[in-house]
Amino acid sequence: MSDVLNLRGVGAAYGKAQVLWDVAFDLEAGATAAVLGRNGVGKTTLMRTIMGMHRLSEGEIFVNGEDVSNLRAHERSRRGVGIVPQGRHVFPHLTVEENLQVGLSALAGRGDKDGGKIPGYIYDLFPKLTEIAQRKAGFLSGGEQQQLALGRALAGRPRLLLLDEPTEGIQPSIVQQIEAALIRIRSELGVAIVIIEQNLDFAWAFADQYFVMQKGRIVRNGLTKDETAADVAHLIHV
Ligand SMILES: Nc1ncnc2c1ncn2[C@@H]1O[C@H](COP(=O)(O)OP(=O)(O)O)[C@@H](O)[C@H]1O
Ligand SMILES: [Mg+2]
Repeated sequence: MSDVLNLRGVGAAYGKAQVLWDVAFDLEAGATAAVLGRNGVGKTTLMRTIMGMHRLSEGEIFVNGEDVSNLRAHERSRRGVGIVPQGRHVFPHLTVEENLQVGLSALAGRGDKDGGKIPGYIYDLFPKLTEIAQRKAGFLSGGEQQQLALGRALAGRPRLLLLDEPTEGIQPSIVQQIEAALIRIRSELGVAIVIIEQNLDFAWAFADQYFVMQKGRIVRNGLTKDETAADVAHLIHV
């Protein structure tokens, strides 16, 4: 199996304040990893650094074997990296359909099979988006915006999807729908996923491997099949 993502000694900073140190891991094509850790340990910064939304200050990042360390976010998205950022960030003044069309731009240079149309599997995963296709995204509920953010990331047919707390602040009935969609994205589309998730039980059930972060470093990692969530809970809820 070839790797979709490799991190080697990655560091990142805000000005002079370093917040990531020596982060390293590998993810196989189609595999899933959960990034765990309490607030402020650097999880979001790590995701933004992988996406190229934040510059790394040390180390290297490879996507499908290519060194992307110096590429910007839109260049990484064209190489198959997609992100659902924390807090969603859909375009409020655009309709649902227009938001999804923005996601198609990541396809540039990778064969646009659907002729500029939004791939059908997005509406199949999130039927609600069909109903609300002409509504402005700013008027949607949090759960609808999250489904849209996921749909927008999938429109670029990513090989690697970065999910930053996709169920945060969403009502429980919608959380289940989103979790069910994530399971289908993993199993039916074969997309590799790195997920930051506070619900440890879901993270454990969903991911093949886990990383626990403390103060900007990975302090423990392993395979979820070899351990239980209870084995690492004390490292997260400290
Ligand atoms: N834009 C920013 N400017 C300066 N410091 C930041 C910024 N964003 C995050 N930080 C700091 O970086 C650290 C890691 O934050 P973050 O990556 O958001 O952690 P997490 O997602 O795990 O909660 C925290 O100490 C936070 O205060
Ligand atoms: Mg965060």
